[in-house]
Amino acid sequence: MIRSTVSRYVHIRQLTSGVPKCEQVIAHRTRNPISLTSVISSTSYRNSKYKTSYHHSQNHSQRYRTIHNTPRTMAPTHAEKPNDWSAQQYLKFDTERTRPVYDLVGQIASHLSDVSSPRIYDLGCGPGNSSSVLLSAFPGAKLTGMDNSPDMLLKARSTLPDAEFVEGDLSSFAPGNDADLIFSNAAIHWLRSPQRIPSLVRMFEGLKKGGILAFQIPDNYTERSHALMRTVALTPSQPWSQYFADARVGDLQDSKRPDLDPIEAPSAFYNAFASEAATVNIWRTTYQHVLKDVPAIVEWVKGTGLQPFLHLIPEEEARKEYVKAYERELKNAYPELVDGKVLLAYPRLFVLAVKS
Ligand SMILES: C[S@@+](CC[C@H](N)C(=O)[O-])C[C@H]1O[C@@H](n2cnc3c(N)ncnc32)[C@H](O)[C@@H]1O
Repeated sequence: MIRSTVSRYVHIRQLTSGVPKCEQVIAHRTRNPISLTSVISSTSYRNSKYKTSYHHSQNHSQRYRTIHNTPRTMAPTHAEKPNDWSAQQYLKFDTERTRPVYDLVGQIASHLSDVSSPRIYDLGCGPGNSSSVLLSAFPGAKLTGMDNSPDMLLKARSTLPDAEFVEGDLSSFAPGNDADLIFSNAAIHWLRSPQRIPSLVRMFEGLKKGGILAFQIPDNYTERSHALMRTVALTPSQPWSQYFADARVGDLQDSKRPDLDPIEAPSAFYNAFASEAATVNIWRTTYQHVLKDVPAIVEWVKGTGLQPFLHLIPEEEARKEYVKAYERELKNAYPELVDGKVLLAYPRLFVLAVKS
């Protein structure tokens, strides 16, 4: 039911949004603290992208793919960040990565049915895929997306020019006390564990009565896809070994290590919100993503959890060898299906807390 509602909203938005006019885009963008050069460059980029992608938007996945393939007439100017995320790499699996957004929005919809223009914050919004689903499900919403990646924000702004996107950090970002919904898909796990629940509690405390905090976090620390990154990094006498010698891979006490922190037990999230919540709804789903082959698993994690490992290997050859060895190990862990494809198991924890 919610899926068909969401698709209908996507369709309605496409029919009504239109190609943004240059002046409107500039007016919108100048509300954000960016340079005039950036405004002009992004505007040309956005308009050229919109002309080609507009008629292709039957669903958001197709739309994103169209955007990737559109040649840029003018390179966007934006602040570059060392070891930044790549929106392009991330969106290679946009359909799979966005699926939990639909599943979480499906649980939120009934809570917001009486709010005509909900105020929504999408934290760790990435390239705008989650924001796009939220705007489609709640068409009158005022949405602010927040992320700390310039490349992700550039993509989000170019894809959803009518929404507001700001740079910020999950550990300190404080939405105004006007929030009906604070949403976060696949971002909170990037915080180290000591910051994670306190940041969520701070967000929850800032909600008004009846407001919702809803988030999804991958729970795959022990999955082979992630455990093997650590195993291969720690293999001795390999071209990459020296770069992990002091990296404290797998040492949960050391926050400088490249592996993310395991996810807390569901009860820890319940206990964090219970005293101020009308309801806390928690569930865990293991998605079984069908991917083309094992190299596709490598491509998937290159867009997310493998990044901190690769950033520690400055030498290109050693980096390639590490990736090859990781892929070899994955071949043993993910046997081929009858048609040569593989199943990538991906457990995700969902939490939806309503403020009392
Ligand atoms: C896996 S992507 C999720 C994107 C999108 N929400 C989705 O549904 O697919 C995680 C995003 O979190 C952002 N991120 C990671 N750590 C962050 C932090 N400390 N503060 C703000 N954003 C952060 C990354 O830049 C990235 O865009």
